[in-house]
Amino acid sequence: MKRLRAALFDVFGTLLDVQSVAARADALFPGQGAALARAWRDKQIEYTRLRALSNRYAPFTQVTEDALCWCADALGLPLDAAVRGLLMHEYTQLACFADVRPALARLQQAGATLGVLSNGDPGLLDEALESAGLAECFDLVLSAEDVHSFKTAAAVYELGPRALGHAADEILFVSSNGWDACGAKWFGYVSFWVNRARAPAERLGVAPDGEGRSLMAAADFYLQWAEAAAAR
Ligand code: LAC
Repeated sequence: MKRLRAALFDVFGTLLDVQSVAARADALFPGQGAALARAWRDKQIEYTRLRALSNRYAPFTQVTEDALCWCADALGLPLDAAVRGLLMHEYTQLACFADVRPALARLQQAGATLGVLSNGDPGLLDEALESAGLAECFDLVLSAEDVHSFKTAAAVYELGPRALGHAADEILFVSSNGWDACGAKWFGYVSFWVNRARAPAERLGVAPDGEGRSLMAAADFYLQWAEAAAAR
């Protein structure tokens, strides 16, 4: 068991609640907000995978907007430029989950280096972290844009060890997206799944090293790992 040197966090869905766009969407399209928010997220992730698989990179902001337009068409919702702009703006102002600040504070007190590793492009990450009041919490912000691909491409996960100068198995990767926690484990990180949605485990022939319901559970996992490694 190696010592952990740092923790890297996924952003969308893990630190920031992508379903918080549902309220704005519902005000615009009464009764359809939740359905639109859900479909939007699914299509966005589908497009990242298609683009990564086919080497057709486009920034996450564009992928997100393309996914929104597709979903509006699919649900028969009229999406003019003003409404599209409002919903895209909402994506830069996502609510932060309540457990994020206490969990990060706990890790900071323990002296952990903290970063994010996200599909988001740097502009979107800056705006979203700033608006959520999290910009000061991280020592580094890593974006998939650097390698023009998306998770679960190895090149994206590789950004962590490269920037930190530590091997992947000395870094805890935390995501609420089960597929992302598995992708990180495939790459070689110590991986923790914040299973906020109580989703079933992915059937991918790999399992995260830890699982819990909140970001605080991820912080506990990091600290317990540190203790166990120190005792060896
Ligand atoms: C991210 C997406 C996958 O932040 O949630 O990378």
